[in-house]
Amino acid sequence: MTEPVASREDIASLLKWYVDQGLDETIGETAIDRFAALPPAAAPASDSARASSPTPIRSAVLPPQARAPVPLESPQLVEDARALAERCNSLEELEAAVRAFEGCALKRTAKNTVFADGTPGAPVMIVGEAPGADEDRLGKPFVGVSGQLMDRMMEAIGLRRAGGFYITNILFWRPPGNRTPTLAEQAMCLAFTRRHIELARPKLLVLAGGTAAKAVLDTTEGIMRLRGKWVSYRLGDGTEISAMPTFHPAYLLRTPASKRQSWLDLLAVDKKLKELGVR
Ligand code: URA
Repeated sequence: MTEPVASREDIASLLKWYVDQGLDETIGETAIDRFAALPPAAAPASDSARASSPTPIRSAVLPPQARAPVPLESPQLVEDARALAERCNSLEELEAAVRAFEGCALKRTAKNTVFADGTPGAPVMIVGEAPGADEDRLGKPFVGVSGQLMDRMMEAIGLRRAGGFYITNILFWRPPGNRTPTLAEQAMCLAFTRRHIELARPKLLVLAGGTAAKAVLDTTEGIMRLRGKWVSYRLGDGTEISAMPTFHPAYLLRTPASKRQSWLDLLAVDKKLKELGVR
């Protein structure tokens, strides 16, 4: 019996399903050793042959043993990130340091560094988890569907990116296929994010989703317990700012019934801003 041929629609919907699941690259079943695939080193040419042959385009390819191995899970990298971040005295310096940092493995697969968007110095700073495919492509946080929901929610309490809030993630690079970032990757980026909060000096922090809330607050408590309650976040100089953990907009898109709780969280943010005399 012959196998039925899949229709174009079936194939298109299978591909869509792959993309929805975060599979945006096709990879073969067998690993390719690309170093082994390099052409063998050429024998030294005679002077006359060298004079007549064209300059090889890829003459600078280094043999594999000449590349310095970088242990990407080393705790030293977290210390390096922390020391680098400490030396930054402005958001511009911090952004340049993050863009130049080569210690996080995620940077190798990401298209862009996603630093922040909105207004630096705005009263509210939102910290999310990690860039997704849209953010990676455009180099800005929260620009995909969940970002659009976030914008609408903030707008409902009168806050826009222009003047009302500043927004970032604990990770500056998209994890491949949106996988959960490792603790080492989180710790490395968090060293910069802590300094990011210190330099942005918001009046209030909004922590979007369990991963961001747990990482920033250094707790193992889940978002179901954390959300809706003010917690104090201490800056490096000892100043305390109020932080509100809340559901991630991607979760709200999957679970619209939870939007009611998020609305209560946002009303609490609005009330606190009024108490602080910000609006
Ligand atoms: N989810 C996040 O946590 N951050 C983004 O920037 C986009 C989606």
